[in-house]
Amino acid sequence: MRLLLGVTGGIAAYKAADLVSQAVKAGFEVRVVMTPSATHFVGPLTFEALSGHPVMLDALATGGAPEGSGAVQHISWAKWATHACIAPLSAASLGKLACGISDNALTTVWLALPPGIVNVLAPAMNTQMWDHPIVQRNVKWLEESGRYTVLSPTSKRLACGDVGTGALPEVADLLAALTGAPTPPPQKVAPPTKAASAAPIPLPPVAAPTPRPATPPAAGPAPIPAIPKKGPGFR
Ligand SMILES: Cc1cc2nc3c(=O)[nH]c(=O)nc-3n(C[C@H](O)[C@H](O)[C@H](O)COP(=O)(O)O)c2cc1C
Repeated sequence: MRLLLGVTGGIAAYKAADLVSQAVKAGFEVRVVMTPSATHFVGPLTFEALSGHPVMLDALATGGAPEGSGAVQHISWAKWATHACIAPLSAASLGKLACGISDNALTTVWLALPPGIVNVLAPAMNTQMWDHPIVQRNVKWLEESGRYTVLSPTSKRLACGDVGTGALPEVADLLAALTGAPTPPPQKVAPPTKAASAAPIPLPPVAAPTPRPATPPAAGPAPIPAIPKKGPGFR
């Protein structure tokens, strides 16, 4: 199982580091592609250390490719993957994917991914952004393409302080979506005791992500193209 993980510029980018860690433990070989914005939230070195592979940052990088593999690295990385996931997926990158705009390494590799692989998108953003009709239209376009399983963000207190839908699902749920394993049931919330009722109002329980119709599994293991270890586009 070869997982291509995309990380975009959202506050939940730090959770992607745990996803890499858990995916490696689950038996995935992981390679990471980051947007330039994502590097403001988490350093590529973190992902390089956790995955054991260089991180792709630059779609226009040339050179550094081993003999015979060519310099078209966004294509060789796309062909390498049996599984793909973008977590967190920002509103900006979600819109680019929906419109086929490939203006950085992440959006270019994702446009080059073949049909038939497991391809999970995990949008995460402020509730107002998530509820925006244009974002919802973009989600619909992505779903209608038949290429993606779009996970619904969960509902809780967000980093901005708002309480609502927009949070990245738990890492276990992301992994479950990738492997097809059933997601664990939502935790039962105990009824408040008398003492607790004087306490601040509890946050709403975290809803499990709603998996949308999954893309069909890959037909079989694809041949592993050679992947450059180092080059101008890697850190
Ligand atoms: C502190 C901070 C947190 C942000 N969190 C999010 C977020 O969770 N989701 C989102 O869609 N955008 C978020 N943004 C805005 C994105 O970083 C911005 O739209 C950026 O252009 C996304 O680029 P990318 O999709 O190429 O990574 C945040 C911005 C800042 C400054």
